[in-house]
Amino acid sequence: MSEYGYFDIGGLQMREEPARDACFKVVRRDTEMHEHEGLGDEARREMVHRHMSNEITSLDIAAQCLIEFPDAPWDLRMELARQCWDESRHVMVLHRRLIEMGGQKGEFPIATFEWNITCALDSIAARLATQNRTFEAGAMDVVKSLARAFHGGGDEETSAVLDGILADEIQHVRFANRWIKRLAQGDRRVLLKMAMAIRFLAEVNEKLATRDGELNAVGKRLKDARDTVPAVNIEDRKLAEFSEEEIFEILRQAGFKSLIADDQLHEGTP
Ligand SMILES: [Fe+2]
Ligand SMILES: [Fe+2]
Repeated sequence: MSEYGYFDIGGLQMREEPARDACFKVVRRDTEMHEHEGLGDEARREMVHRHMSNEITSLDIAAQCLIEFPDAPWDLRMELARQCWDESRHVMVLHRRLIEMGGQKGEFPIATFEWNITCALDSIAARLATQNRTFEAGAMDVVKSLARAFHGGGDEETSAVLDGILADEIQHVRFANRWIKRLAQGDRRVLLKMAMAIRFLAEVNEKLATRDGELNAVGKRLKDARDTVPAVNIEDRKLAEFSEEEIFEILRQAGFKSLIADDQLHEGTP
């Protein structure tokens, strides 16, 4: 179906990076990135450059869903197509802002971590749970605080750009939540796929996450990143052996509360 292969990280199969312009240096760990302390000129350019890159990755992930799941419900495909349009506008507006700030594309290393994980998953529900429901929901918080920081630092233009993006991101998370629920109601195996996705994300994060005190390529001291994805505290066992209650427990811990109302717990179980 696709030319994108897989690579191995400690026994986990990750999807190989999507194509990028030759000007970009693509790295795989936060320690190789150039995120700076503070809000100096270079730090602000790197931040805008990094978010521009993340928007390209969001576009790629949504587009790849359209390619790899041609039989998904039409209305869901339309949502993903609209998301592609939103993300492409986000890329353009951040690129324009980067140029205004004296920067250029390819000025700093980039990573496609969210693609590497999300596109390794083989169901559309798992991808929505990971990219939209987890990564983009997390990005909403980051973008909101960044917009405030730029505002506080006197950079009103960048603050306004980020605020505008935020309005679209809310819809990307919302439509994913709605469709995850709808898909799970139609097919209970979807819940297992999502539980596996959350588990996979936690395992990858454990292997790749920076540890407290590690330095990145420009000497910034990094924090432990393991707390940024849902903590799923279940016994280490093969997912195929999970009972329905255990699957619900994984989803409950990861915040999928609306899927697991108490009356659903025993509904349909023999
Ligand atoms: Fe976006
Ligand atoms: Fe988005």
